[in-house]
Amino acid sequence: MNTQEQITPGIIHVINGPNLNMLGKREPEIYGALTLDQINEELKNRADALGLSLDFFQSNHEGEILDYIHVAFEQGPAGVIINPGALTHTSVALRDAISMLSCPIVEVHLSNIHKRETFRHTSMIAGIATGQLTGFGHYGYYMALDFLHSLAG
Ligand code: DQA
Repeated sequence: MNTQEQITPGIIHVINGPNLNMLGKREPEIYGALTLDQINEELKNRADALGLSLDFFQSNHEGEILDYIHVAFEQGPAGVIINPGALTHTSVALRDAISMLSCPIVEVHLSNIHKRETFRHTSMIAGIATGQLTGFGHYGYYMALDFLHSLAG
């Protein structure tokens, strides 16, 4: 379980799943006007100011995300910020991969998944994440970073 209260020095992995490469163009009334590059650039600026190192990954392919998490596992990540997109609601394989990690895991959703269609109310990830931020738009990513920073030694 990912219940560690302090993060060890190392990389915080920022992982985005399917369709999140389309942010800015994709249903902006739900997901906001910023592109993923813009969000990641702001995250990088904030991480630099906090003295934290980030690695960014986005894929539309479940297996690629699993492979990325396996590599992160071998390196011993400091933390994970993940918006799994629709895989949130479906992927036992993603849950199993994240379960291998012993670092804090923050699940982020731009929209409030609990206010939307019933099929979005279930997260395969929430039960193994340290916490879930949902409905705060792009601020959710920044809040996740601040939370991980609060755990740093
Ligand atoms: C999302 C919510 C998911 O239900 C959806 O499939 C996404 C984005 C969000 O950030 O609000 O792709 O994770």
